[in-house]
Amino acid sequence: MIDSHSHLFAEEFKDDLEECIERCKENNVNKIILVGFSKETNREAQRLSKLYPIFYPTAGVHPCDANKDYLEQFAELKEFIKENKVYAIGECGLDYYWDTTFKEEQKKLFKLQCELAIENALPVIVHMRDATKDAYDILKEYSGKLKAVMHCYSGSSDMALEFLKLGYYISLGGPVTFKNAKEPKKVATIVPLDRLLIETDCPYLAPTPNRGKRNESSYVKLVCQEIASLRGLSFEEVERATEDNTIRLFKLDR
Ligand code: NI
Repeated sequence: MIDSHSHLFAEEFKDDLEECIERCKENNVNKIILVGFSKETNREAQRLSKLYPIFYPTAGVHPCDANKDYLEQFAELKEFIKENKVYAIGECGLDYYWDTTFKEEQKKLFKLQCELAIENALPVIVHMRDATKDAYDILKEYSGKLKAVMHCYSGSSDMALEFLKLGYYISLGGPVTFKNAKEPKKVATIVPLDRLLIETDCPYLAPTPNRGKRNESSYVKLVCQEIASLRGLSFEEVERATEDNTIRLFKLDR
């Protein structure tokens, strides 16, 4: 299995990162996309990837950090990816849940990162929260040229089909295992098997039965299990398909 979205550089893992990696290996999680979202975390993702070959680093600027300085932040990212090997741009995107003060800056910063990804033949990891319409409009502009995954997708199943039509991937995390998560469970059954990814987004959103506790990459197994049971497939079928998709999207070595 591959955890297609993890933040194992977080403070929460500073005392037991190596044990977390060990638990991944024990649970057959052999690759982890280590997702940066700021100057500091982009660097951390690089540093840890050099120490532990299980990690594949990315770099991006999170929409919650968009402000008047967005052009400077983007210039820094552009320099950073010239000097460092990354497997994707992001996470980046739109987030109107926390704050809408810099809506316009968020949109511009997201577009710049999509264009940077196209120029460098990299996929984009999309963070979208309470911003489905605007994210859709932007991603529609780049359809056919851009590769992208809607990370920890929490939108409607109808909109999931629209993002799929544009050619993008859908990734599901812990919420698909939550008892009352009707919509994510529906999404899990309608995404074609060749467009589905699994993730943890750890340390957040731990799947059942660890809900509310610290999440970690080995728990991606619980997400895989739930999707398999929802679709009436074997664990191995979902494991193999999501692994193939992640390798294809991020151009990982086998
Ligand atoms: Ni994330």
